Amino acid sequence: MCGIVGYIGSGKATPILMDGLLSLEYRGYDSAGIATLEKNKIVVMKDKGRVKNLYELEGMNDLAGTVGIAHTRWATHGKPSKENSHPHMDNSNSFAVVHNGIIENYADLKDFLTSKGYTFYSQTDTEVIPNLIHYYYTNGPVSILEDGKQKFLGAVKSAIYDLKGSYAIEVISSLCPEEMIVVRKDSPLVIGKGMSENFVASDIPAILKYTKDFYLLDDNEFAVITKDTIHFYDNSLIEHNKSLKNIDWDANAAGKDGYEDFMLKEIYEQPTAVRETIGSRFHLGEKCSFDDVAISKEYLSKVNKIYIVACGTAMHAGLSGKTLIEKLCKIPTVVDIASEFRYRDPLIDENTLCIYISQSGETADTIAALKLAKSKGAKTLAISNVIGSSITREADYSIYTHAGPEIAVASTKAYTSQVVLLAILAMYFAEILGSYPQEEIEKLKSDIIDLPTKIEQVLDNTEEIKNFAKKIYTEKDMFFLGRGTDYNASLEGSLKLKEISYIHSEAYAAGELKHGPIALIENGVTVVGIITNPDLVEKTISNMQEVITRGAKTLIITNQILPNANFDYVVNIPDTNPLVSPILSVIPMQLLSYYISKFKGLDVDKPRNLAKSVTVE
Ligand code: M6R
Repeated sequence: MCGIVGYIGSGKATPILMDGLLSLEYRGYDSAGIATLEKNKIVVMKDKGRVKNLYELEGMNDLAGTVGIAHTRWATHGKPSKENSHPHMDNSNSFAVVHNGIIENYADLKDFLTSKGYTFYSQTDTEVIPNLIHYYYTNGPVSILEDGKQKFLGAVKSAIYDLKGSYAIEVISSLCPEEMIVVRKDSPLVIGKGMSENFVASDIPAILKYTKDFYLLDDNEFAVITKDTIHFYDNSLIEHNKSLKNIDWDANAAGKDGYEDFMLKEIYEQPTAVRETIGSRFHLGEKCSFDDVAISKEYLSKVNKIYIVACGTAMHAGLSGKTLIEKLCKIPTVVDIASEFRYRDPLIDENTLCIYISQSGETADTIAALKLAKSKGAKTLAISNVIGSSITREADYSIYTHAGPEIAVASTKAYTSQVVLLAILAMYFAEILGSYPQEEIEKLKSDIIDLPTKIEQVLDNTEEIKNFAKKIYTEKDMFFLGRGTDYNASLEGSLKLKEISYIHSEAYAAGELKHGPIALIENGVTVVGIITNPDLVEKTISNMQEVITRGAKTLIITNQILPNANFDYVVNIPDTNPLVSPILSVIPMQLLSYYISKFKGLDVDKPRNLAKSVTVE
């Protein structure tokens, strides 16, 4: 939620800030703004709407400052409007702040500041921050100057001390024009180190084209940044050193590469993403291994329950993880939604292994759910796509999908690479435990190795799916049915459709239909049936016949030779092991949602009300 960028150097800040904002827009896009220091005076340009609207603002081209902060917003407190856009200033116009997160006690702080004579011009929680900083700068305890600490840093620290909630914050001040201060708690922030210039962003890709050297800020850590220096402080303002990480990502991977939308590009990147996920984690005839994780047989043998916890698409990938782990490792596995798990006192002890899946590694509920399990003594394992993301810094073990940056709000390659990684993890555990016949594991390995080529074959059928999308894009309701792993895939297909086409859709376990939902089936309703498991073909076909009888239009996604039936459309996909079949069956559904959205003329990459990274609960 919300993207923030900062620049301090010798060059003009505005182009770098705008460039960063444009690449962070997927985090939130209802308003945007920048603040630069112009001859020691802060100038703010902001407005409702997309980042590109800022170019139209009068005076934008005149900004020449070399220090600046910027923000693209996903509204939490206060509707999208110019007043509620960031940056926010204090009443004296000396401090400008951008913030990602939520200040839970902002109403109390607002009351306090109002009683001290401050006025508020927005409905946001953020506006208390610059005013609190100003309050402490002018009225703060003498202790903020102790130990020779600068007054600016002392005032920011005192203000932060009063905040409850989550935040990544950048502050600049006309009173200290050579510095920028940043701090975070439960919200991501990275600092990019350059030559006589430094950068700040919520995400590495936003500034990757300027530097590959990063500091990943920790919770409750402050950084004071000038163009030549970066100093780190803990929350008692004790200075410490921090190690620089070299991020070896390809900056171009974050561009569209000629595709019309990031989503389409990412759908087409799936063969490569899956190859990268497999990497050298296994070879035929050799045991699976992870570079970064070694789990002992002694520990794993004691594990009597596994939780897989995640949100949205990542949770859907987790459902395949459950099937794989239970089948291969014989360990009972429960999949839970992070926002439920964290508040329902789950039964966890030191023999529970908790696996957390998060593409971004920054999802607030998933991180909180991980912290909960740790506090109860369980070991935690994070699956993420973003190296050094918050979740991987909290977990006992972390493994990466290596799918490359995913920019479109609708997750595609993250899902397929997460399912692949869960399959490798299940095989890795099974080989340690000896819980599944090795020849069956070898067959599964071979099926997984073949997946990238088979994904390419599915993508060859894009036109076919586009044609079907053209026939049904004006519909209001759709259903997705499947059994077993096909049901898991149908949940993801239905989510994709809702997210980017705004068509209401439901996914059901095919056998559950007649227990209620079939009442919704009427003439012309489209039902997508997924049929990939040879043991369940007949069952699902019978369920599809039930909807056809009631007038439904049907699209079947299958790798089976089906008996002659009166389906309206059949998309054939390559055969594979049912345990990993969602990796193939999901792709026609991703494409269907994509083209329906395009035919409706919608913004595929930035669907309404959504943001890529949900860093608030
Ligand atoms: O970054 P995460 O994997 O933790 O994100 C979880 C969900 O917010 C995410 O998968 C969401 O459901 C996507 N928009 C789905 O396309």
